[in-house]
Formats: sequence, C-alpha cells, structure tokens
Amino acid sequence: MKYFKQEIADEINSILETGIDENDIEITEGERGDLAFPAMKLSGELNKNPREIGNKIKEAFDKDFIKKIDVAGPGFVNFFIKPETLANKTAEKLKSDKLGIEERSGKVLVEFSSPNVAKPMHIGHFRNNVLGDSIQRMMDFVGYDVYSENYIGDWGTQYGKLVYAYKEFGSREKFEKEPMEHLYELYVKFHEEMDEDEDLVEKGRLWANKIEEGDEEAFELWKKFREVSIEYHKEDYHRMGIYFDRWTGESKILDDTKEVLEEGVEKNVIQKDEDGSLYVEFDSDLPATVLKKSDGTTLYLSRDIANLKKRKEKEGFDLNFYVVGSEQDLHFKQLFEICEMMDINTEGCEHISYGLLNLKEGSMSSREGNIVRLSDLIDKAVEKAEKKISSEKLMKNAEKIGIGALKYANLSVTKQKDIEFDWEEVLTFEGDSGPYLQYSNTRARSILKKTDEKGAFEGEFEEVEYSLLKKMSMFPGIIEDAVTSREPAKIANYLSGLCEQFNSFYHECPVLDAEEKDMRRRLALLEIFDKVTTQGMKLLGIETLDEM
Ligand code: ARG
Repeated sequence: MKYFKQEIADEINSILETGIDENDIEITEGERGDLAFPAMKLSGELNKNPREIGNKIKEAFDKDFIKKIDVAGPGFVNFFIKPETLANKTAEKLKSDKLGIEERSGKVLVEFSSPNVAKPMHIGHFRNNVLGDSIQRMMDFVGYDVYSENYIGDWGTQYGKLVYAYKEFGSREKFEKEPMEHLYELYVKFHEEMDEDEDLVEKGRLWANKIEEGDEEAFELWKKFREVSIEYHKEDYHRMGIYFDRWTGESKILDDTKEVLEEGVEKNVIQKDEDGSLYVEFDSDLPATVLKKSDGTTLYLSRDIANLKKRKEKEGFDLNFYVVGSEQDLHFKQLFEICEMMDINTEGCEHISYGLLNLKEGSMSSREGNIVRLSDLIDKAVEKAEKKISSEKLMKNAEKIGIGALKYANLSVTKQKDIEFDWEEVLTFEGDSGPYLQYSNTRARSILKKTDEKGAFEGEFEEVEYSLLKKMSMFPGIIEDAVTSREPAKIANYLSGLCEQFNSFYHECPVLDAEEKDMRRRLALLEIFDKVTTQGMKLLGIETLDEM
C-alpha cells in the first residue's frame, strides 16, 4: 500500500502544485475503495472548497493502476486500485526477503531481562523477556545492527546478606544438588529472621563490604552464586528460544562508576554531604537521590550512569534501549536527567516501560517466597496445551503451543497496559490467541503441501479474496509502525485480524477443487499468507508448526 500512497501523493502534488506526502493518504475499506485523500486538508491552502479540489484531482488523475475515482461526502477522494495490479505489487514486495522495507542503519543495544542473581525468574520476567526479544527481532529485521544484552543484577548489599545466610543456615550438600532452590530458600529465611533480629541487617552489610573489598571467602561465594544463577537462568531462556549477544552485570562496571561519580562532583552536578555521601538534586520536579552512601558503597543508579556513558561514548551505540517494568519509571527519568546535567550524550536512550502481568490467582511477593516462577508458568501452559491436543502423535507440539500461547498473550497487549492473565483465553484455538495463529498458518501450509501447482493472479477476485489480499499488503507498513513505536502488539493484533480474514476465505473458497484460474489465484493468496504469518510469528518469537 505504501507504494500506491506514494504514487498518489506525487500525482496530486503535480496536479495541484502542493506538497502533500504519503502520510496524507489514508487506507480505507469496503465499498469506499482502497485509498482516500481528504481534500479538506488542502482547502485552506488553496482557498477552494474540498469537493471542487476533489473533482479537479479526479479529472486530471492519470495513473494506470487506478480502476476508478469517486469524490464523496464533504470531499473525500476515494481511489480504487486495479485488483490485479495490487495483487502483483503485493506479491512482488512480500516475496522479497525484507518485504520491500527500507533498510535502516545504526548500532542498537537492546538490554532486557536483566534478572537479579540468586533468585529464580518470576512471571513478571516472562513479559519482559518476550517483549525485549520481540523488539530485538524487529529491529534486526529492518536492518539495524542489533546487540542484545542481559545486564544482570549481581552487585549490592543483598549479596552480603546471602553470603551471611549461607554461612549461617546453608548446606553445602543442598547447594550442590539444587543451587537455586537453596539460595532462594536462604533468601527467604534471611528476611524471615530479619523481622525478629535487627542485627542481621548489620551482619549482612559486613559481608557485603567483604565482597566489595575482595575478601577471598566472601568473594568466592559471591562468584559461585553468580555462576549457578546464570546457568539456571540459561535453561529458562533456552526453553523460550531467547538468546543474548552478551551477558554483563552491575559488577562489571564498578571502576567506571567511581570515575563517573568523581566527574559529576567536579562538574558540580553531584553534591557531597557532611557524612561523605553523594547525592544529586534536580532543577525539575524529580526528587533528589543518593548516589553513594556514607560507607562508600555505590548504588544501582550510579552504576547505570557509568554504564550509559560507556554504551554511548565508548561503544558508540546509536540507540540504547532499556526494557524494564514501569515500577522503574522514576529511576530512568533520574538516570537520563543526571546524564544530561553531566553532558553525557543521552540521544537514542530509551526506557521501554511496560505494565504488570497479573495472574487471576493473586499477587506475588518474592520476599515471602510465594512467587510464581517463570518455569512453573511455562510448565502449566504446556500441560494445558497437552490437554487440548487430541492425537498422541501431535503431543510433541505441546511445548511450542504452550509457549507460543504465553508469548502471544503477553505481546498482544499494548506495553503500558497491565495484563490480567486468564488461562482459558490464552490457550483457546480460536480467536485472539497464539494457537490460533499457529493453526491458521498450518492450515494454509497443509494445502500448499498437497500440490505442485504454483499460484498466479488470474481471473476475477471474489470479495473475501480481495479483502485478504488488501490486509496482507499492509504487513510491511505494520512492521514499520511497530518498529517506530517499539510495539510488538501492533504485529500481534494485525496477525490475529489477518488470520480471522484468512479463515473466512478458507471457509468460503475451495482451493484445490476449484477451477484452474480460481485455484491458481487462491494458491497465490495462500503462498503470501504463509509468508506473512511465518514472518510475523518469527518477529514475535512464536514457532510455526507443520501439523496441528
Ligand atoms: N536487575 C534489575 C531488576 O531486577 C533490572 C535492571 C534493569 N536495567 C538497568 N540498566 N537498570 O530490577
């Protein structure tokens, strides 16, 4: 459609000597045609009534892809495109590797997931993981040079607590057998005990200092905890089909953090308190915040300042994305503002914020130990998928269906919105769901597999065929829109609407039993549909299936 929008805008410009662009041309549906230009847009500039302008366009318009032009209502110029031209243009574009999308360039960092060590990931991480992963896929597809990064939370006083808890209540045997289980037990235990015994906080802090000073025992334990956590998380990622180009962590940026704090003090952006702590105050209405405590420990925020500077100045990223939940909105506002105050370049730095994922069963708190683990969430989805699969030989699909369903349920909701998670909706094979996309795609493929005939646009389009074609022709524009708004939901929702149209087509139009021309035309539609859904699902990280 983009092609036709551009052509129409150019032609209108040459008729009226104006400067409209493709964004002034709208996509319409049904009897009103394919594309429309609201001539009202020009009535001020040309000092003419819109219908008059519309009629002038209609008379002078001369492009051979146009079937007819209507001027309607207060001044809408409706363009009808010749179906076979639209069909061939669409096929040509969609069959090319990049769907005719203009290649973008630039080095992009997509930081996402970034869990803390020594704790299993929970369902909130699931939303983060699939959102970050889909964004990295989209950016990559349109040509950016993308690096995905997992910046793990592996530094801070909490690891002092954990070392203390391990020494006090831990068991080597348990740790060796099920390290994450045990660490998580200790984490919960420490916080329970802490409620009784206030000294524990101090004890934890002492061990945190020891880690920081490089005390051998403390440091080795910390390192071990970090390693086993990474190994553990990797299993979850592997199951979700998510991979990172690099793993970093807060502990990798400590020297730079010291330096950047000094720089901030020198530049008079960061202030020193009497007790030796460092803090910053803002000109805007953001609340003041501490960057270094009086005991010398640096904070999460200070490490992010150093890290941003490194990414922008040393590593030269044009875009620097942080996929992190909306509970950290303030953190990122403060981060970007401090950097600006220090003249660190924040261009292209974006906090990609998203809402909560709520299970109907109730809320979760990791301190009390009743979190819903990410791996449990996946297990449950797979189990539910198994129940929906009728034949034993297709059981092998359960993992892909279950995970695909979860991914879709997360990605089809606009980022900022909270998700109220309902198992029944998630795993339905009809309507707005992951299995529905997989099912529709498989349906098309199974017809294509049955024949050696190739599709071609011959004969007259039926109405359902033409609507399907038009919807498919929008795909490249949808991807561009999703990329610009960093919003996979645009792709997810588009695909679900497309599959609905496909299923109407499937019910109304026989393919292999149809007459020669009809068969070829319908096969051509199926080929494009397969291509669009396969590519669309890939951008969401949802796997396609051969049989379902
Ligand atoms: N580890 C942090 C957490 O679990 C998230 C880190 C987000 N990334 C960042 N650069 N601050 O809350």
